[in-house]
Amino acid sequence: GSGVPPVGVCPAGDLDRVRADAGEQRLTTNQGVPVADNQNSLKVGLRGPTALEDFILREKITHFDHERIPERVVHARGSAAHGYFESYQDLSDITRAAPFAAAGKRTPVFVRFSTVAGERGSADTVRDVRGFAVKFYTDEGNWDLVGNNIPVFFIQDAMKFPDLIHSVKPEPHNAIPQAASAHDTFWDFVTLMPESTHMLMWHLSDRAIPRSYRTMQGFGVHTFRLVNAQGESVFCKFHWQPVGGTHSLVWDEAAKIIGADPDFHRRDLWEAIEAGAYPEWELGLQIFTEEQAESFPFDVLDATKLVPEELVPVQVVGKMTLNRNPDNFFAETEQVAFCTAHIVPGIDFSNDPLLQGRIHSYLDTQISRLGGANFHEIPINAPLAPVHNNQRDGMHRQAVHRGRVAYEPNSLGGGCPFQAGMAGFTTARSQMPQPPEDKVRGKPELFADHYSQARLFWISQTPAEQAHIVNAYRFELSRVTVPAIRVRLLSMLANVDPILAEGVAQGLGMEVPPPMPLATDAPPPQYEPSPPLSLLAR
Ligand code: HEM
Repeated sequence: GSGVPPVGVCPAGDLDRVRADAGEQRLTTNQGVPVADNQNSLKVGLRGPTALEDFILREKITHFDHERIPERVVHARGSAAHGYFESYQDLSDITRAAPFAAAGKRTPVFVRFSTVAGERGSADTVRDVRGFAVKFYTDEGNWDLVGNNIPVFFIQDAMKFPDLIHSVKPEPHNAIPQAASAHDTFWDFVTLMPESTHMLMWHLSDRAIPRSYRTMQGFGVHTFRLVNAQGESVFCKFHWQPVGGTHSLVWDEAAKIIGADPDFHRRDLWEAIEAGAYPEWELGLQIFTEEQAESFPFDVLDATKLVPEELVPVQVVGKMTLNRNPDNFFAETEQVAFCTAHIVPGIDFSNDPLLQGRIHSYLDTQISRLGGANFHEIPINAPLAPVHNNQRDGMHRQAVHRGRVAYEPNSLGGGCPFQAGMAGFTTARSQMPQPPEDKVRGKPELFADHYSQARLFWISQTPAEQAHIVNAYRFELSRVTVPAIRVRLLSMLANVDPILAEGVAQGLGMEVPPPMPLATDAPPPQYEPSPPLSLLAR
């Protein structure tokens, strides 16, 4: 249909307006002045001092001096590619989000994969969570699904994120060690935060050493809402499933590759796309109502829990294909700014307290990382949808706004944008009655169960995968120097599974201590499947 970019053609073709190709062109300064000699500075005599007036030398060196920008505070190391998302069906019953408006509809995307802890130049195959961030350039503005390759997270509340990351990063006095998980501070923190138990199981499993970016699943992690044109909403979890299957390295391979080819994942993604072996993922949705959520034995606002597929099956609704490498790493991969606050009509947040904190964090950090409030104008971040508002000025403003007025309402006319009304972004209406509540700092009761889903994960693993998990705990904990931290970890694992705890303890030459006291007296939850809510039958 019209507006559908053909396969293999760059969908974000409007970047052509900013592409620069200097081949066979006359060398100039940034002012367009031709440069006669790019080899020699201007000197007072061949052996004399360099003249201050050499503006060509000074411009060149000054620009070089400012080439670096701060790296991301997390997810600094990454690789990205362009592509498109194609919806398999019309989902407008459930969501008015533009990418799902019709079967076969294509929406351009830019996707960045990353590690979390390492610096920009760190190795690809370390044991770490992987970022999986997708920017959809939709007809109604940019939608960023800023996910990871693991469906749960370490913590439940944004309040703990700076603590988590400070524990993961190299120790502040000597910047040792740089490995993501092998150190005292990380294990100190997570063993004092039993809510991290479930995420740790994934983190110590083969999921944290993927074979390739092309063979990773992706997850939105939080519960989101889908909203239709009538304002009715359902809860939703997002899943990316690699068409080539989910594959991991084993630890010995990963450790060797760290030394032999630190760019292993970056190279693999680049070369696959250059060779025309375009990586693909299907998008799956887990859709459930507020009533269903109330009946689950866990809280859907708790990012340390997933929604088991036995409770709510994943329904595949479309496919993403990555078919073009960036032209320029800095301009695109480094300057891209993903943000959980970037949602479009048809998508809405849930009250997950981790998500709520993220909604603030990304825009805030990008203002300093990308030098001011106008980074949405950087080509890779600019929506394909038109932008019209009364925001003005700021560092590096590109748009040249015309007219007298930059306020609304006004009666002087001359190009004032108007509110979209019902055609614009409206937030989801809750279908459940919401009793008035006081402000409170605390957690819902079901957040206190830290072990049931960790156990579900453990028993879902094959014996070989279980052995990998035990060995990974042994390896990481053998590098922790404080005995009390190991004891705490074993007492957490004793709540997950006795064989797991015993296996890890043996490897460390320790006894399994008594289980860590539970944070709740409630009996362990039972997972009873409920009937699926079919996308097509609603
Ligand atoms: C990157 C904050 C939790 C996925 C970042 C960045 C910050 C941040 C500041 C750097 C952004 C930039 O400089 O452009 C937070 C906070 C969190 C949190 C405060 C919790 C309160 C999560 C979770 C996920 C996640 C739960 C996964 C669901 C990502 C990804 C990136 C990222 C994928 C890299 C985006 C890219 O490729 O540029 N986060 N994060 N974060 N975060 Fe989070």
